[in-house]
Amino acid sequence: MEKTFLMVKPDGVQRGLIGDIVSRFEKKGFQLVGAKLMSISNELAEEHYGEHKERPFFGELVDFITSGPVFAMVWQGENVITTARGMMGATNPKDAALGTIRGDFGLTVGKNIIHGSDSAESAVREIGLFFKEEELVEYSKLM
Ligand code: CMP
Repeated sequence: MEKTFLMVKPDGVQRGLIGDIVSRFEKKGFQLVGAKLMSISNELAEEHYGEHKERPFFGELVDFITSGPVFAMVWQGENVITTARGMMGATNPKDAALGTIRGDFGLTVGKNIIHGSDSAESAVREIGLFFKEEELVEYSKLM
């Protein structure tokens, strides 16, 4: 079953949006297989956002993601990586369609509410950074 890593960023947590965001993915039909409210260390932030290391906003990105608690999640389901990206909307909320998470709740690219893996390779890497194998559950096959 395809899995992806999603994370409500500090702005989304602070604004009380965890419930709404979780609800959207549940109602779509995806299954939550791992979740934790946590603080991100500088080391983890730099590793997670390693591909942006040379970007001028890298320092700002690391400062922001470590500034308050995040809600890290693993979701599973058919085409969950691509579909979740669509539900999140464009990276910059000003370009994100209404009805998407960033389109409905965000204003600026730095504080864009949610992160989601952009490929199967990123999903494996990011899930491994944030979760141990034993922190992910298996759903009953009887229902
Ligand atoms: P995310 O999906 O978490 O992946 C990388 C993040 O970099 C992205 O969301 C944005 O929040 C952030 N980002 C992209 N461009 C900029 C920018 N110009 N200034 C600040 N942050 C940015």
